[in-house]
Amino acid sequence: MQNSISFCFLLFLTISTVSMASNLQVGFYGQSCPSVEQVVRKVVYKAISQNPGLGAGLIRMHFHDCFVRGCDASVLLDSTPGNPAEKEHPANFPSLRGYEVIDEAKTKLESQCPNTISCADIIAFAARDSSLRLGGIYYAVQSGRRDGTISNISEPTTNVPPPFFNLQQLEESFKRKGLSLEEMVVLSGAHSIGVTHCSAFNETHPYYPSLDPSLAKVLREKCPNYPSTNANNDPTVPLDFVTPNKLDNLYYKDLQNNRALLNSDQALMTTPPTVEMVRKFGSQGGVWANKFANAMVHMGSIEVLTGTEGEIRRNCRVVNYYN
Ligand code: HEM
Ligand SMILES: *[C@@H]1O[C@H](CO)[C@@H](O)[C@H](O)[C@H]1NC(C)=O
Ligand SMILES: *[C@@H]1O[C@H](CO)[C@@H](O)[C@H](O)[C@H]1NC(C)=O
Repeated sequence: MQNSISFCFLLFLTISTVSMASNLQVGFYGQSCPSVEQVVRKVVYKAISQNPGLGAGLIRMHFHDCFVRGCDASVLLDSTPGNPAEKEHPANFPSLRGYEVIDEAKTKLESQCPNTISCADIIAFAARDSSLRLGGIYYAVQSGRRDGTISNISEPTTNVPPPFFNLQQLEESFKRKGLSLEEMVVLSGAHSIGVTHCSAFNETHPYYPSLDPSLAKVLREKCPNYPSTNANNDPTVPLDFVTPNKLDNLYYKDLQNNRALLNSDQALMTTPPTVEMVRKFGSQGGVWANKFANAMVHMGSIEVLTGTEGEIRRNCRVVNYYN
């Protein structure tokens, strides 16, 4: 009897601990700050109407945040003396953009609902709003994330996959974050918007079929020294030349026509299972959009801090201790 009571108690403890670990919920700020999602959306839409590329930046920011220490806004922290931050790593600097959009939303929210909304949740809302504005893709964002206090320049190296990874390396890096091969293929569809620096791609890689000659011609015009890199002169080109500001499934059609700039994109065409996915998403845009929404929600739950873990940063660039 005694035993079964303590067993039940332990079971209860275990269940409550497990559910606390995934304590995110849609509408977490329903009581404490009902306007939060409207406030973020307004700021994001205004930014995108001035520069659609910021929407691409915000979606990518959510990815780079979640893959390093979980979705805890570590990517937003500025360096402090003796501790260069994640945002200085070449995966993020100088290419990651949208920081000012998050700052603007945070400033508005601090005046309406002080010490309440985490920076990590603002990134998650902003990525969703960008998907909606640029792709008509809506999903409900689970919130309740807390902000981390650590950001280390060396951590993206082992956590954010670089563009020269082959398929096996890409699959492995997503699997380490609990994301499936299909989710990797689905989320790569975000490369239907935004830009890449010329230095990030190298279509002379021997493993991949040669780039569509008409695209290669354009790249020779736009990228100095193409196909080699020139760090001092490194302009950007659209990832999708046809609809660069539209989050759509054209990406998957491009892959089938050897029009992917990044080796990591063309890599999806190197194994039969991923080729099958690329064909399906290329012909069924609605199927892809639905899976993209679900995969974004899943990505947004990676190793999150909740409850009393971490903190609610007052300024997204600085931990509260220093502020
Ligand atoms: C599969 C592994 C991935 C690799 C290797 C990769 C790599 C890259 C690289 C090299 C760029 C160009 C950055 C630059 O030079 O400016 C880029 C851009 C971008 N990536 Fe990825 N990425 C991956 C997955 C993702 C995922 C999962 C998302 C989001 C769901 C994403 C969203 C974006 C967006 C939106 C851009 C355009 C950013 C802008 O215009 O500012 N990527 N990615
Ligand atoms: C950052 O991470 C690296 C590698 O994990 C570690 O060696 C280094 O001590 C860390 N830096 C700080 C300031 O914690
Ligand atoms: C591109 O790849 C080729 C073949 O692997 C290599 O020789 C060349 O140095 C690479 N160029 C850049 C800019 O990475």
